Amino acid sequence: YISYRVIKPRHPVNPSIKKESPKVVDGFDIEELGESTAFCRCWRSSKFPLCDGAHNKYNIEQKDNVGPLLIKKK
Ligand code: FES
Repeated sequence: YISYRVIKPRHPVNPSIKKESPKVVDGFDIEELGESTAFCRCWRSSKFPLCDGAHNKYNIEQKDNVGPLLIKKK
């Protein structure tokens, strides 16, 4: 077992999601997804791993430019 949290990062990519877990992994069957699904890449969504728009506030506060991954069915 390798602990990735020996040194706590000052600015973690993930500030709050499943912090009790050594690794956050999510999966979906493609059939579960709607015509268009937005996946969060800012790690601030209350619906993580789905995007809830929280990246907008994060981008303004941190002067960053992150956004979701959009998966669309043809
Ligand atoms: Fe995180 Fe949209 S809420 S990318």
